Amino acid sequence: MVLLLSIVVLAAVFLLVSSKHHRKCDSGANPLPPGPPWQHLPRLGNLLYRCPTIASLADVLQHLHAAYGPVVSLWAAGNKPAIFIASRDAAYRTLVRAGATFAHRPPSWPFGLNGHGINSTPYGSRWSLLRRNLGSHLAAADVASALQSSLDKLVPSLESEADDGVVAPSEMFRAAVFSFFASLCFGEGVAEDVLWKLRGLHTEILSLVVELGAFHLMPPFLEVACYLPKCWRFSKAQKRHRVTVMALISARQQPNREEVGAGRRRCYVDTLLELGLPDEEMVSLCWEFMNAAAKTTSTALEWIMARLVIHQDKQQKLWKDIAGTRFNENYMADDGRRSPFLEAVVLEALRLHPPAHYLLAHTTDKDVYLDGYVIPKGSVVNYGLADMGRDAASWTSPDEFLPERFLEGGEGYGLSVTAGCSNGNKTIRMMPFGSGRRACPGADVALTVLKSFVENLVTRFEWKPVGDGDGAVDMEEKPGLVTEMKTPLRTCLLVRQHG
Ligand code: HEM
Repeated sequence: MVLLLSIVVLAAVFLLVSSKHHRKCDSGANPLPPGPPWQHLPRLGNLLYRCPTIASLADVLQHLHAAYGPVVSLWAAGNKPAIFIASRDAAYRTLVRAGATFAHRPPSWPFGLNGHGINSTPYGSRWSLLRRNLGSHLAAADVASALQSSLDKLVPSLESEADDGVVAPSEMFRAAVFSFFASLCFGEGVAEDVLWKLRGLHTEILSLVVELGAFHLMPPFLEVACYLPKCWRFSKAQKRHRVTVMALISARQQPNREEVGAGRRRCYVDTLLELGLPDEEMVSLCWEFMNAAAKTTSTALEWIMARLVIHQDKQQKLWKDIAGTRFNENYMADDGRRSPFLEAVVLEALRLHPPAHYLLAHTTDKDVYLDGYVIPKGSVVNYGLADMGRDAASWTSPDEFLPERFLEGGEGYGLSVTAGCSNGNKTIRMMPFGSGRRACPGADVALTVLKSFVENLVTRFEWKPVGDGDGAVDMEEKPGLVTEMKTPLRTCLLVRQHG
C-alpha cells in the first residue's frame, strides 16, 4: 500500500514537472509530421490513453495514416515524439539512405534479460562486434545437420498424429523450430526435458512482457508500474531461465564435453565464451538468440502451411516442382538445390503474413528533415511493415496469394527480401526482416529453415482442409510482438505414398 502511494505521488510530481518541457518540444520552428489534435497528457503524451495495447495501436494507426498521410506523429513516452512511418519510400530514405542516422535504438533498461542483447546495444563498436559474431556464427553453422535432427523428430510425430485424421500442428512446429535453434545456440544433443523446460520459460517470460514497453512507447515510470504486480513471477522466471542457460553454458566449458548439450559442433555459446563475456551478458545474448529466432520462424511456418492448406492448387504445384527438382527417400535438408516455386511460396507468405508487423523501435542521433517535417533527435521512430507488403501501388492484387509473382518474369522476381528492395529499385517493396543496418541478422538462416521445413512437410504429407469452403482455415490475426494465427491451424494430414 505504501509502495503504491509512493508511486502515485512520484507520478504526480513527474507530470507537473514535465508539462512545461513537453509544450516546448511541441512548438519548434520546424513542424513535426502531422498528427491528431488529441489532448496531450503531460508525461503520458496522447498515444497511451487512445491505444493502450498493440491491437488498438494497429487500428488507430490505420485511421491516422488515412487522415494525415504515411508519416504521423504522436506523443508517447514523456517528451519524446513517436513517429510512425508507413510509407515504403520514406522507409527507404530513412533506413537505407540515411542508414547510420537511423541505426540507433532508444535507450533500454541496462539490466534484465534484454539488457545486453544486440538489439538493445547502442549503435557503435560493441554492437558491431556482437553482430559480426552472430553473423559469422550463422554463416558457418552446420545448418543441414541441425535441420536433419529437428525434422527427424517432427516428421514421425506428425505421422503418428496423422493416423487420427485432424491434426493441429502448431505445437509440433514450435518444438521442432525451437530444437533446431537450440542446437545452433547451445550445441547438439540438448536433452528433450531441458528443451521443454527452456521453451516453457520463454513462453512464461514473454507472457509477462509489457508489449508497448517493448516498442518504447511507454514512459518508464508507467512501465515499472505495469511490471510491479507481476515482478515476483517475472524475477523468478528469469532466475530459472538463468540457471538453465548457465548449465548449458557450463557444459560447453567441460574439457571432455560429455555433458548435456555439449556436442562437438561449434555453437553460439562457444563464440560468446571466446569473446570472454561476463555470465550476465552471455545469458542475455542466448535469450535474445532463442527469442528472436524461434517464435518468428515457427509462426512464419504456420502461416505458410495455412496458405498451402487453403490453396490446394499451389500445394500440388509445389509438390510437383519439388519432385521435379529432386526427390530422395531421406529427409531433405538444405543443399542449395531447391525448387524455385518453394522459394516463391515462402516469400509470398512472408509478404502477406510477416511475423513482426513493426520493426523494433529506432531513433536518430540528430534532427532529420523529411518531406518538410522534422524528426527530432531522440524521437522514437516506428515502422509499420505489414501494410507495405500489401501496398496496391507496389503489388498487383496485393491481397491474393500468388507465389508466381516471385518467379522469373514476375513483379517480385529478384527482390532481395533481406534488403527489402529489388536491384536498382530505390524503394522498399516488403521488409519482413527490416532493412538497413539494423535489419535482421538471422534472415538468411530463417529462410533456409522455412524452405527446408516446407519442402519436407509437403513431400511427406498432403495437407488437406478440415471441411469444405473458404472458412476451412481461419486466417484472422492475433496481434502481438509476433503476429500469430488467432485460431491455430487445423488440417487433415495424409501421408504420401512413395514408391
Ligand atoms: C522468420 C524469422 C524472423 C523474422 C521475421 C525476423 C524479423 C526481424 C525484424 C523485423 C527485426 C527488426 C529490424 C529492425 O528493427 O530494423 C529483427 C531484428 C533482429 N533479429 Fe530477426 N527475424 C527472424 C529470425 C531471426 C533469427 C533466426 C535470428 C537469430 C538467430 C534473429 C536475430 C535478430 C536480432 C539479433 C535482431 C536485432 C538486430 C539489431 O538490432 O542489430 N532473427 N528481426
